[in-house]
Amino acid sequence: MVAARITVNWKETPISPAAPHTTVLDFLRERGLTGTKEGCAEGECGACSVLVARPGVNKPTDWVAVNACLVPVAALDGQEVITSEGLATAGESGMPAALHPVQEEMAVRGGSQCGYCTPGFICSMASEYYRPGRCAHPDSADGAGAGTGTGTGTGTEHGPNGFDLHALSGNLCRCTGYRPIRDAAFAVGTPAENDPLAQRREQSPPEAVSTEYTRDDSAFLRPSTLADALQLLRERSDAVVVAGSTDWGVEVNIRSRRANCAVAVDRLPELREMRVESDHIEIGAAQTLTEIERRLDGSVPLLAELFPQFASRLIRNSATLGGNLGTGSPIGDSPPVLLALEASVVLTDTDGEREVPLSDYFTGYRQSVRRPGELIRAVRIPLPLSPVAAFHKIAKRRFDDISSVAVAFALDIEDGIVRKARIGLGGVAATPIRALATEAALEGKPWAAETVEAASRVLQAQGTPMDDHRASAGYRSAMLGQSLLKLYAQTTEAVSS
Ligand code: FES
Ligand code: FES
Repeated sequence: MVAARITVNWKETPISPAAPHTTVLDFLRERGLTGTKEGCAEGECGACSVLVARPGVNKPTDWVAVNACLVPVAALDGQEVITSEGLATAGESGMPAALHPVQEEMAVRGGSQCGYCTPGFICSMASEYYRPGRCAHPDSADGAGAGTGTGTGTGTEHGPNGFDLHALSGNLCRCTGYRPIRDAAFAVGTPAENDPLAQRREQSPPEAVSTEYTRDDSAFLRPSTLADALQLLRERSDAVVVAGSTDWGVEVNIRSRRANCAVAVDRLPELREMRVESDHIEIGAAQTLTEIERRLDGSVPLLAELFPQFASRLIRNSATLGGNLGTGSPIGDSPPVLLALEASVVLTDTDGEREVPLSDYFTGYRQSVRRPGELIRAVRIPLPLSPVAAFHKIAKRRFDDISSVAVAFALDIEDGIVRKARIGLGGVAATPIRALATEAALEGKPWAAETVEAASRVLQAQGTPMDDHRASAGYRSAMLGQSLLKLYAQTTEAVSS
C-alpha cells in the first residue's frame, strides 16, 4: 500500500508523522500554512475553512469548502486541498504575484479588519465562486430562471452574480460587520478560462483510496468496498464509524476522545447512490447534505426547507444523512423531517440487509436498533409525498445553531378534510418522536381553525420536554402548539392568495 499522502496547494506531501486523529487544521499549520485559523475547533466559526476537490454534482469535480478543524488529515489520503495561501497566484520568493478575485474583492470593499476570520471567509467564498451554475440563478444579471439546486433562494440571499449567501453561513466575523463582506461576495465575477481551479473542475476528482494509516496504537482505516467495511466492523468491536466527521471531530477536539480504530465509510460507492423509483426515493447514507440538496433540487419540499436551516453550508458540505441518524441525537435536525416523511432506514451487516421504519429506529437517548457492526446504507422516503409540508426549527439563531424544538409536518388535505397527518418532533423527548396523538386529533377532521386549535393543545402536551440552557420545558411546549397554528396560518394564506 502506498504511504498516505495529501496534495496541498498542488504539492504532494506525506501525511506521516501526523497521528491518525490529527486534524487537517493542525496538519496545515504545522507546515507553515497558518492562514488556516482555529477559532472554535468545533465547526462553528469557519476560521479554518479550506477547499477540497470532491466528486461534483454538475461537473466532474467541485471545490467544496469544509471545516479543517473537524476532518482528520488521514481522511484526505490521496485528496487535494487548497488553502487561502494557494488561491493567490504565486510570485517570486513565496510572495503572491496577484490576489485571487475573491481576495481582491474582500480587500477593496473593506471586508477585513483584524483579518482573523478572513482566510476562512475567502475559502468559503471561493467555493461559491466556483460553484457550477452560480450565474444562472434567476436573481443574477444573466440568469434565465434556471434553478441553482441550493434549495434556498430569495432575492436578499442571492447577489446579482448568483452568489448564494448561505455559502457564508458557517463563517463568523467579530469586527468587520457583514455588509462589506456581502458586498465583496456580490461583486465577484466568473472565473477566467485559464483559472487553474476552474480548469480542475473539468477533470475527474481524486479517487477515494484505500487507507491503512497506523501510528502507535491507533489507526485510521478506509476500506474500499462495503464488504470490506462490514468485515472490518465485525472484527473490530472498538471501531468508530466516521463519515463527514462533523460530530466525531467535535468529540476529538473538545472532549479529547480518541479512537483505537476509526473506519471511514463516506466514500463507499454503495453508500453514495441516489435512486428515484416509482414508489420511493433512496438516498445513500454517505452522501453529504449539500449533495442531497443539489441532487434533489427541491423535489422533496420538506427536505428543501430543512437543509438551509441545518447548521451551515460548511457543515452540510461534510455531514451525511447517515451520520445524523447514526449519532441518535434527540436534537438532530433531519429525524423530525424524516419521521414526517415516513422514511425508513436500510441497515446492513455481513449477514445481510434489513429495513426499519424510522419511527421504530430510536430506542433511547442516543440509542437505536442499529446493532454493533451494522451500517446505515441508505434512507428510503416513500412516494407520493404529502402535499402540505413544513419544517419549523425554533433556535436562538436562524442559521448555524442547534434547535430548541423542531417540528416537521406532512399532511394530505382533500376537500378540506385532513386525510393523513404525519408530525415529527425533535428536542422534546430523549429521542425524536412522532406526535401520534396530534396526528389522530387531525385525521378525518376539517382543516379548520377549530380543529387546529384543539390539535394544537394536544401537540403542546406531546413529549417530555426538559428545562436546559437552550429553553425551558414550558417554552418548548408553547412552541409546539404555536407551530401547528403557524402552519394553519401559512396554508390558509396560501389558499386565499
Ligand atoms: Fe471554528 Fe473550525 S475552528 S469552525
Ligand atoms: Fe476580525 Fe473578521 S475581520 S474577525
